[in-house]
Amino acid sequence: MSEKKFSHFSHIDKIWRKNQVLKDREQYFRLDKNEMISNFDKPFLNKIKKKLKSFHINAYPNLNDVYKKLSKSLNFSTENIILTSGSDLAIKNCFELFVRKNNEVITLNPTYGMINIYSKLFQARQIKVNYEKDLTINPDNILNKINKKTSLIVIPNPNSPIGSVMSQTDIIKILFKAKKNNCYVLVDECYYNYYKKTSINLIKRFNNLIISRSFSKIGLAGCRVGFLITNKNLRKKLYKFRPFYEITSFSVLLLDEFLNNKNLVIKYAEKAKKGKKFLEKYFIKNDIFYFSTAANFILMVLNNKIITKRIFKELLKNRILVVVEKNIPHYKNVIKFTVGPEFLMRKVVKAIDRVI
Ligand SMILES: Cc1ncc(COP(=O)(O)O)c(C=O)c1O
Repeated sequence: MSEKKFSHFSHIDKIWRKNQVLKDREQYFRLDKNEMISNFDKPFLNKIKKKLKSFHINAYPNLNDVYKKLSKSLNFSTENIILTSGSDLAIKNCFELFVRKNNEVITLNPTYGMINIYSKLFQARQIKVNYEKDLTINPDNILNKINKKTSLIVIPNPNSPIGSVMSQTDIIKILFKAKKNNCYVLVDECYYNYYKKTSINLIKRFNNLIISRSFSKIGLAGCRVGFLITNKNLRKKLYKFRPFYEITSFSVLLLDEFLNNKNLVIKYAEKAKKGKKFLEKYFIKNDIFYFSTAANFILMVLNNKIITKRIFKELLKNRILVVVEKNIPHYKNVIKFTVGPEFLMRKVVKAIDRVI
């Protein structure tokens, strides 16, 4: 094959993608990806089974009603919203529309991994803004980097794997400077159900703002349901990039159930908050340094490689999956736990207790 014609293969070949290694993840308590970590109860599952029809399997999805329901719950017109397969695809959608080769994309560092992947895939010049020692971002470090070559600024708020947030005031400053430089700002509110301060109210004021949100972290990770909200003009352009159908029929069924029953989200978020408090109390009592986050996870800072390894192994022995985060700036040997209901946090504490 002609090397010249497909010269872009060379940059694609350099991109490293992690394969899923764990075959029996279902058998574990999954505290590694910030999903809902307890199981749905039987009555809920039975209700879904009853609602499942052949249509959900052998027909293309019917999205009209669920778009209307979502738009009503957000108090935005359907012409402002695009459903996406997880908020991941909403982020990709923004790269597809805004980013061309050698454009500058400003991102936080570290950040949600796919933002780095999309920056590489779309051959952007990724300008990374680092965290301070207290794991916050100095907004001036973003503002200073915005220029005429910037096409997109991506701000997960809260971010992952660092769960800190930017204030509304700082986001507004960024939006102003971005507007002056003719560039777009994506505020990724993937963890919205745990951190309710939103920039959604700024959509009417700033025509360069896009918000993405997700149902993954609150119960629908397996269904891949997310969406973006922006002004009607921009939505029209982004909508051109949508796949044949945005989400599957099964995802529509579950999204509909979640929109009908807001308590599902509220109750789980409350349980996660309580679980987080429980874990924090334990860390304080045992003099363990940690960063609490605005999202549904917590960072335990150990600064000791051997103990970190031993805790990780002990948790694994108890079928608890966590992540040893290697990319937290200024800190080494950090374990990230997804938080959830207290009975699961007790299991975590018991395992840690056996090591320390
Ligand atoms: C900050 C952030 N944004 C976006 C995503 C994508 O999530 P999803 O595609 O499941 O909505 C994640 C997933 O972990 C995340 O942490």
